[in-house]
Amino acid sequence: MSQAVKHYLQFSDFTQDEYQYIFARTKELKRRFKAYETWHPLHDRTLAMIFEKSSTRTRLSFEAGVFQLGGHAVYLNTKDTQLGRGEPVEDAAQVISRMVDIIMIRTFGQVIIERFAANSRVPVINGLTNEYHPCQVLADVYTFIETHGEIAGKTVAWVGDANNMSYTWIQAARVLGFHLNICTPAGYALDERLIAASDKDFYTECDTPMAACRGAHIVTTDVWTSMGYEAENEARLAAFKDFKVSAAMMANAAPEAVFMHCLPAHRGEEVDADVIDGAQSVVWQEAENRLHVQKAVMEYLLRGRFEDA
Ligand code: CP
Ligand code: NVA
Repeated sequence: MSQAVKHYLQFSDFTQDEYQYIFARTKELKRRFKAYETWHPLHDRTLAMIFEKSSTRTRLSFEAGVFQLGGHAVYLNTKDTQLGRGEPVEDAAQVISRMVDIIMIRTFGQVIIERFAANSRVPVINGLTNEYHPCQVLADVYTFIETHGEIAGKTVAWVGDANNMSYTWIQAARVLGFHLNICTPAGYALDERLIAASDKDFYTECDTPMAACRGAHIVTTDVWTSMGYEAENEARLAAFKDFKVSAAMMANAAPEAVFMHCLPAHRGEEVDADVIDGAQSVVWQEAENRLHVQKAVMEYLLRGRFEDA
């Protein structure tokens, strides 16, 4: 990987100190936007957004976000570019990174984004891979800070699949100093190869979803079948049937607990409607905050720190 260029490929790519800056900067960028204050640190700069999987939130929040910072976004997908016709990732990275200033990629294997970044002259941001979704967990943590304050020392319950969101929460627990209770169904356990030895003190694998939720400050889940795993859908519907976040699970969490979901959600599968549409749910705030945390990340990667954060 290029030494000179800083990328955001997984949550552990930033330190706790960098996150403290990003959170403060997010608050300021959100305030400026809400106040109609123009702030264009990325004037004349272009973001390329490369999608190999579907998206609503990620595409919109990156495109609107770079525009709000004075820049411009170009949307590319594998269906109608040479990326889908076998051009090597390394060659695409060389070319695209000579034409734009920053690149966001949503793809399948993490190895693809790593190969791209290793050949990119400009920062690359992970907009979701099979293994990680750092921008989403960043928005989720910021949402908790916004509603409850400090996340260090708190407990987060993960109920459901061992997927890109769960592995990112594990990294976030270590970097930011909170604890994760994880409960996954039989046959869908965590893949140890994706977990660093240093992360192991920051999570507990629980026997039941109810046990995972006990005393938690955040209860969170995700779809039973992530993008790219559709062929397993029928088997997953059976294996995950007891992994629906319910009002009883929320009642077992801390009284002030919030429910989070990266969206899109399937009511009646991974979460009951009365939970996701209930008073403890902060899912719309999470989605909104994607916009502002990603502006802070883009600004930081391209311009570094501003003193007035
Ligand atoms: N949460 C999230 O990343 O949503 P999209 O798939 O719509 O981008
Ligand atoms: N785990 C889900 C997240 C979607 C935003 C997926 O990868 O499909």
